[in-house]
Amino acid sequence: MQFSRSDFPEEFLFGVATSSYQIEGHKFGGAGETHWDTFARTPGNVVRNEDGAVACDHYHRYTEDLDLVQAAGFDAYRFSTSWARVMPEGRGQVNQEGLDYYDRLTDAMLERGLKPCATLYHWELPSALADLGGWTNRDIALWFGDFTEVVMGRLGDRMHSVAPINEPWCVSWLSHFLGQHAPGKRDIRATARAMHHVLLAHGTAIQTMRGLGMSNLGCVFNCEWATPTDDTDAAREAADLYDAYYNRFFLGGAFNKAYPENLMRGLGPHMPKDWQEDFGVIGEKLDWCGINYYTRSVIAPAGGGWPHLKSVEGSLPKTQMDWEVYPQGLTDFIMRAWREYSCDVPIYITENGMANADVIINDEVNDSARTRYLNQHLAAVKAAIDQGAPVKGYFAWSLLDNYEWSLGYEKRFGLVHVDFETQVRTPKDSYHRFAAALSR
Ligand code: FCB
Repeated sequence: MQFSRSDFPEEFLFGVATSSYQIEGHKFGGAGETHWDTFARTPGNVVRNEDGAVACDHYHRYTEDLDLVQAAGFDAYRFSTSWARVMPEGRGQVNQEGLDYYDRLTDAMLERGLKPCATLYHWELPSALADLGGWTNRDIALWFGDFTEVVMGRLGDRMHSVAPINEPWCVSWLSHFLGQHAPGKRDIRATARAMHHVLLAHGTAIQTMRGLGMSNLGCVFNCEWATPTDDTDAAREAADLYDAYYNRFFLGGAFNKAYPENLMRGLGPHMPKDWQEDFGVIGEKLDWCGINYYTRSVIAPAGGGWPHLKSVEGSLPKTQMDWEVYPQGLTDFIMRAWREYSCDVPIYITENGMANADVIINDEVNDSARTRYLNQHLAAVKAAIDQGAPVKGYFAWSLLDNYEWSLGYEKRFGLVHVDFETQVRTPKDSYHRFAAALSR
């Protein structure tokens, strides 16, 4: 690595991130069915129809995994709590075994000197709630508030930080407009509702946690830079609209209590009634802003229906996901979040990393491409800090190779390699280099 801990401000946190469904093994411990289980079982949605039933078996191996986090010298661990593990039907009955598991996990972090950074929802909605319309049903804000109360009633006294929802854009647009994630809808009315309700649920959870006396509460946005394909007004407008529904809707709702006007021209007719009246809840004050950053998209105008745009192939080097490597976008997003949205509150990079076709040779994984990617993006973070941005931490995605949603187990994002047959963990070269950098 080209950096050392001492290149960053004194209290800067380094961590790794994971999520429940991607690593735990959902079939263990009495968890209820989720919309990812059935989405995966439906042909055409997920590579080889793979699901998270076993994943990395982290449910049984979490101590070994947390040992790896500690041994590398990380300060913090970002994890998520599965709604269906804690409340198998999404409402009502609590699965004590599930709550006990997160209790043990939390204590295991603390025993290793790791700061627990929780995300309450990272995508596996209980099927029973999906049956009721899931994110398209306004009541989800209340159901989510109840879930928050149950989980944080138990863990809240030991959390370093909490975000209610991981990546509102993925929960809504990717899953209800593009249909690429569960529940696999392609419907503009469902999309508009999900986009708004996900923020309403976010605000409701923040209020619930404030009621529990908790602090250090934030939100985790996924940001993707939109580059117009050329210099024309049409391309600029298309990129601006993409930016509006990807980035500005969520940052703007949560921090500025407003949605972008260019977006509302197309989405407005499909929004739920009286949506303007919800900003009091949506815009609850936050203590930090989380940015997940991976790539950019090159945007061109297109025919067909609204939003009349498409992503076109860019010219930059790409990762195993076919995502362009564009570190400048991370600096730009930090500066933009700081100036236009989160202002004085700390910014954390809550996810950043790359998939690579890693292979084990003689018990080693040479993933120099990942080390390069991490170096470039940490330099991008540093560039923003040097310009005064209040960035206070960086979490690499991910600790382990894991279930990469619709791409199954094919795409490897881990600093640690996982053999999904034997569950053997092998730290990759990037893990060792990260550890060395943190010790300097
Ligand atoms: C993010 C998700 C995470 C993982 C990475 C690659 O959008 O939060 O679960 O899939 O992308």
